[in-house]
Amino acid sequence: MDLKERIAAKEAEGQFIPVSSLLLRPWANGPFSVFLRQEGHFVLYTTKGGAYSDEHRQKLSDMDVDLVYVPKDQIKNYEAYLLENLDALLADETVPLPVRGQAWYEASMASARSVFEEKLPRKLFRTRFNHVRRLVRDSVAFFDSPGALTNVTKLVSRGYKGYHHAMGVMVLHYFVLRGYEEVNKEELFQACLGALLHDIGKTDLPEEVLARRPENWSQAEEDIYKTHPARGVALVIGLPLDAMAQHCILFHHEREDGRGYPAGLTDEHIPLAVKSLSVCNEYDRLTRPSPWRPAHTPYEALQKMGRRKRAFHAESLRRLILMLAKAEIIEPDRLKE
Ligand SMILES: [Fe+2]
Repeated sequence: MDLKERIAAKEAEGQFIPVSSLLLRPWANGPFSVFLRQEGHFVLYTTKGGAYSDEHRQKLSDMDVDLVYVPKDQIKNYEAYLLENLDALLADETVPLPVRGQAWYEASMASARSVFEEKLPRKLFRTRFNHVRRLVRDSVAFFDSPGALTNVTKLVSRGYKGYHHAMGVMVLHYFVLRGYEEVNKEELFQACLGALLHDIGKTDLPEEVLARRPENWSQAEEDIYKTHPARGVALVIGLPLDAMAQHCILFHHEREDGRGYPAGLTDEHIPLAVKSLSVCNEYDRLTRPSPWRPAHTPYEALQKMGRRKRAFHAESLRRLILMLAKAEIIEPDRLKE
C-alpha cells in the first residue's frame, strides 16, 4: 500500500466502528449496514434495510471473520439494536463473556447517556426511563454470570461524565449489596435503578452552578446544589420506582454521622441500600477525574474514605474492599501499607 492509499485507508477507518460478528442476530430489515474489511478496504456485506440471515452469519464464521464494521453515521441504529436484543445477547453463553461485556457496556452507556445528557421533556424522559429500567433488568441478570464481576467493574471504571459515574455506581452497588441476605432480588433491582438515577436531579440544576468550581461556590450556590436529591425524586414521581429506589435518589448524600443532606439522618435511620450506595458513590466519585482535579487511585480513594470512618457504613465499606479485591482492581495487602 503506498502513502496515498494508507491515508485513504486511515480516513475510511475513522468512518466505521468495529463490532463483534457474534453480536449480530439474523434480521429481516437490517437496522444498519454491515461492512467487512478486506486488504485494508471496507466492503459492503449487507445493506441497511436488507436481510441478515443465518447464511450470512455462517459465511462469516466459515471465513473466520470476528469483526465487522458499522458506519459511524448509523451508530444510533446499532445502539438501538443492541438495547432491543440485549437480554438474548447477554444470556447467550456461546458468545464469550468479554464480547457480551462489551455489548452490555455499549448499550448501557448509550441508554444512560440518553437520560443524563440534557433536561428532557416529560414525555421523552418517561420513554427513556422505560429503556433504562429494562437495561437495569438485563444488567442485573448478566452480572451473575461467571466472570462478569471482573469484566464489568473494569469496563465502567473509565470515563468522566455524569452517565459514566451513574453506571459505575450502579455496578459497584449491585456487587456490594447482593451479598446482604436481607436484600431480595426485586429489592436489588430497585436499588440498582435508584443507584443509576441517583444524580438525575443534577439535570435540573442551573448550569452556572455546575460550571463553577465547588470551592468557589457562594452559600446560595451550595444550597442550590444540595437540592439535587429532592429534584431527582420530583423528576421520577409517577414512574414505576418503589420506595427503595426513591430512597436511593433522595438520601444518597446522607452520612452515618448525621452530617449529610438533605435530612441529616443518622446511621439507624438510613436504609441499608442507601448505606451501600453512599459508600459506592463516594468511591466512584473519587476514582474519576473531574474538571477540578485528577482521579484518585483506588488505594488513595479507599484511604481517604477510611480516614472519614464515621461518615460511611463500615460493613459496606468492608464489602466494597473485598469486592474490589475479587475484581482484581486492588490487592488488599497493599491497602494496609
Ligand atoms: Fe449526588
